[in-house]
Amino acid sequence: MKFSERILRVQPSQTLVITAKAAELRRKGIDVIGFGAGEPDFDTPDFVKEAAIKALKEGKTKYTPAAGIPELREGIAKRLKEKNNIDYSPSEVVVTPGAKMALYEVFAILLNPGDEVIVPAPYWVSYTEQIKLCDGKPVIVEMSEENGFVLTADLVKEAITEKTKALVLNTPSNPTGAVIPKSELEKIAEVCLENNVMIISDECYEEFCYDEEHVSIASLSKEVRDITFTVNAFSKAYSMTGWRIGWVAAPEEYIKKINIIQSQTISNPTSFAQYGALAALEDKGKFPAMMKEEFRKRRDYIVDEFRSIEGITVPTPKGAFYVFPNISAYIKGDIKNDIDFTTYLLEEAKVAVVPGSAFGKEGYIRLSYATSMENIKEGMRRIKEALKKLQ
Ligand SMILES: Cc1ncc(COP(=O)(O)O)c(C=O)c1O
Repeated sequence: MKFSERILRVQPSQTLVITAKAAELRRKGIDVIGFGAGEPDFDTPDFVKEAAIKALKEGKTKYTPAAGIPELREGIAKRLKEKNNIDYSPSEVVVTPGAKMALYEVFAILLNPGDEVIVPAPYWVSYTEQIKLCDGKPVIVEMSEENGFVLTADLVKEAITEKTKALVLNTPSNPTGAVIPKSELEKIAEVCLENNVMIISDECYEEFCYDEEHVSIASLSKEVRDITFTVNAFSKAYSMTGWRIGWVAAPEEYIKKINIIQSQTISNPTSFAQYGALAALEDKGKFPAMMKEEFRKRRDYIVDEFRSIEGITVPTPKGAFYVFPNISAYIKGDIKNDIDFTTYLLEEAKVAVVPGSAFGKEGYIRLSYATSMENIKEGMRRIKEALKKLQ
C-alpha cells in the first residue's frame, strides 16, 4: 500500500466540494448565489492591515518563537481574563495558524490509537476527520432539532466509555448556530470532571451571540479550567480567515507539548500576521460588534423566509452566522437525500447550499448568511420558486 492507513481514513472537506461546484458554474457564466462560505463578507479592518504592513516595513519578517510573539501571548491571556473571565498566564497560551491547526494539535497531543472523542452532531466537518488523522475514534452523539440542537449533559453521559478521552464543544455552533446556556455547561462540566474527560472548547464564533450570552466553559471553576482547552481565532471575529492566526489556552503542561509540535512542523505562525492580530486585540471587540448587528438583521430575515415555506422547520440560530433548516419534507420522488436536494437547488435555483449530511445530519441544509442582504433576498426568492415546483 502506497499510502498510510491514516490518510486513507480521512475525507476532504465537504463544504469545499459545494464551493467548487458553484465556482465551476460561475466560470460558465451562470450567476450562482453562494450560501456555502463560512467566512464573513466584510473586509479585514484597515487598522489590522496597517499594523501588519508596519511590521513588514520594520523588518518583522523573521522566525518568531514557536508559540508566537510574547506580546500576542500576553494580549490573548489578558483578553481571556477580561472577556471570558478565565485566568491563564501567557505561558498557558499558544498562538497557532488558525483554530483549525489549534484543534489538530490538541488531538495530536491527547490521542492514542482507539481513544474516543465525543463529537456532538451536527458537527463542524473537520472534527471527525482530524480525530481520525490522530488515530482516535470520533463518537457521535445526536442533538435534536426539538431541543434547538443544544448539547445536553445527559447526551454526553450516555456516550462515555472507559476509552473516552475528550469531548468537543462548539458554542456557538457551526452549522446550527446553537448556543449552550450556562446552566447546561455547568452540568456538562460536572459530567466531564466525574469521568475524567477532557474538554476541547471551540469558541470561534463567540463574538456572534444574538440572544444569549456566550459562556466559556473554562470560566466555570479552576477545576474545569484545568481539564479544558479553550480554542479560538481571529479568523471570524476580525474577518481574518486568510491570515491564519488562532490560539489554544490550557494548563502549561499541555501547551508545552503543543509547542513541540509547532516547533517541529510549522516553526511559527506567520510573523507579520501576528502583529496584525495584536492590533485586532486592541480594538476590544468593536469590529465584531458592528458585524454582529448586521448578521442579526440577516438572520432574522432568513429565518422568517424559511418559516414561510411549506414543510420547512428551522430552530432560531442564537449565534454564529448559519441557519440549519429541516428540508426532509422535500426528500421524495427523484430527491432521495439532502445531497440530491442541494444539487436540485444548485441546478434549478442556481443557489449553493451545503447538505446537512456533510455535518453528520441528514435531511437538513446549511446556509451561511455571511453574504449581503441583497444576495440573501435574491437567494431566498429563488429557493422559494424552486421549491414551489416540488410541492
Ligand atoms: C467551528 C469552527 N471551528 C474552527 C474553524 C477554523 O477556523 P480557522 O479559520 O481559524 O482555522 C471553523 C472555520 O470554519 C469553524 O467553523
